[in-house]
Amino acid sequence: MDKKRILTGDRPTGKLHLGHYVGSIKNRVELQDKYECFFIIADLHMLTTKPLKEDIENIVSNSRELVLDYLACGIDPLKSVIYLQSAVHEVYEMNLFFEMLVTVPRLQRIPSIKDMAKSANLSELPFGLLGYPVLQAADILMPRANLVPVGKDNESHVELSREIAKKFNSLYEEVFPLPDPMIGDVPTLIGTDGNAKMSKSLGNAIMLSDSAKEVEKKVGGMYTDPARIRADIPGKVEGNPVFIYHDAFNPNIEEVQDLKARYKKGKVGDVEVKQKLAKAINIFLDPIREKRAMYEEKKGFVEEILFDGTMKMREEAAITLSFMKKAMGFTSAWKKIARKAEESKKAKGKNI
Ligand code: TRP
Repeated sequence: MDKKRILTGDRPTGKLHLGHYVGSIKNRVELQDKYECFFIIADLHMLTTKPLKEDIENIVSNSRELVLDYLACGIDPLKSVIYLQSAVHEVYEMNLFFEMLVTVPRLQRIPSIKDMAKSANLSELPFGLLGYPVLQAADILMPRANLVPVGKDNESHVELSREIAKKFNSLYEEVFPLPDPMIGDVPTLIGTDGNAKMSKSLGNAIMLSDSAKEVEKKVGGMYTDPARIRADIPGKVEGNPVFIYHDAFNPNIEEVQDLKARYKKGKVGDVEVKQKLAKAINIFLDPIREKRAMYEEKKGFVEEILFDGTMKMREEAAITLSFMKKAMGFTSAWKKIARKAEESKKAKGKNI
């Protein structure tokens, strides 16, 4: 039997951080043997908040960084397709068909859209940004994906993709499987500043490509329990970013338990907790950094992967779009017109 499929990906706005890893990348790496995987570099989605010429110019270098992060984390280009969204023209067509299957109020209820507008300082919603999850549905359904590993913030978008797939199947023909979201162990990683979400634009992120020194510095400056002004004051472990990170990145469970116990009793300083955390994160990141550096050196390697992946995706996209057009009746509509036109031209030819 054919393998089930995964589609997921990221906008090319820069390098990935620890939040991306625990929210989605880890699942992608683990599932790539079990599933046929498609990873999208969603540059058209980037356009919804960053449409400037210079943003578009940055797509090449930002895509490169993204692919390097993928490879460094263990995504294997021999097993998975990595492709550039804007270079697969079928997605523009699918997006338009799907726009007819969803209402404006349904989209307005999706909270992540307002969040994106806010963080991009947009006081009014661009039409394209409102349609962000519709375009995402086109991405997901293009390879007829079954599973979508994403962070919590994208869960509602996968839900919408499901609804669109259902609607399409019921209006026309059963073309699409109904995709399921898959959320990582840490659905939304807290920022180093205690903000609910790690995000590069908030300046509270530890990047997968940060050096050991940068990690030490960022961890050293992390937000902890603000009520604990001295090391001998009992501290709060729940919801404390340093312990959330220890749980996520420190495999030494005994050490973490010991630190938590002492923290609660006021028997450990923040410095020790943070030093041990920085060490754990660095041990986790070391092999990722090494792989990244290795791939970075191979000139043209990343671009070849992206090029070949995009060509493969184009084949897949053409198949899905032809299924869609057949199911909707566009293929036969056009054939009828073409046949009648041909007949008429022939008839005229005879008359002359
Ligand atoms: N919305 C994703 C993000 O937050 C990017 C993305 C675009 C995506 N298309 C997708 C994710 C399809 C999963 C599936 O950056």
